[in-house]
Amino acid sequence: MQMEPFCSRVRGPGPVPAGRAQPCGARLRALERGDVGSLIRWVNDAAVMLYLSQAVAYPASEGDGCRWLEELSRSHTERVFAIETLEGRLVGSVGLHAIRWIDRKAELALMIGERDCWNRGYGSWAVRETLRRGFEEMSLRRIYLRVASDHDAAIRVYRKCGFQSEGLLRKDRYVGRGYADTLMMSVLKEEFAAGENGARTAQD
Ligand SMILES: CC(C)(COP(=O)(O)OP(=O)(O)OC[C@H]1O[C@@H](n2cnc3c(N)ncnc32)[C@H](O)[C@@H]1OP(=O)(O)O)[C@@H](O)C(=O)NCCC(=O)NCCS
Repeated sequence: MQMEPFCSRVRGPGPVPAGRAQPCGARLRALERGDVGSLIRWVNDAAVMLYLSQAVAYPASEGDGCRWLEELSRSHTERVFAIETLEGRLVGSVGLHAIRWIDRKAELALMIGERDCWNRGYGSWAVRETLRRGFEEMSLRRIYLRVASDHDAAIRVYRKCGFQSEGLLRKDRYVGRGYADTLMMSVLKEEFAAGENGARTAQD
């Protein structure tokens, strides 16, 4: 499945602290067969997968990656994008999963697999762009996610993008050496639109 090509400057990752490089740009594009090597490297990286390890088979092989891409290409309930810098470096992936077209809702998942690209604004940009696509192009009304309640960096990203907490699943997942709560978060179409309009007005 080839997604429509898209290119956009990174917008609004917020002020960048001294010593932290501002991302010069990014785009979302379809995942390709040539991305499998990077995907498998990330999935086999314990630091990247610390909060995601139950989401995928570990350790993963190139064959697993190819099968996953084939399943994705046939799926009507998943849309996953590669996150790429404007220079063409693949840095992560972001997706809408478990799409329910009648309920008009989906679950968001995010992975910046290249660790040297953490804290450079790619995650926040990719979430905002995926929300925009989900609400404006796919006509969704509710996008939700689950995150370990002690995953502070991810929660920071999601809050910045408009997600609100809506509940806690107690001792829901095993992270590292102990059980952690899962925070449920969501954002509704009208909330996202209000946030985007507010940001545009502030820039005018
Ligand atoms: C979590 C993750 C998605 C964040 O992506 P990212 O591209 O680094 O995110 P951004 O650079 O856009 O923003 C990170 C924010 O978290 C903040 N942050 C980083 N570490 C933090 C910490 N330990 N505590 C609190 N905030 C933290 C940063 O300062 C930044 O906020 P700011 O822009 O207001 O300064 C990325 O680290 C990742 O993919 N990790 C592995 C997979 C994963 O855990 N995915 C999420 C599963 S729910």
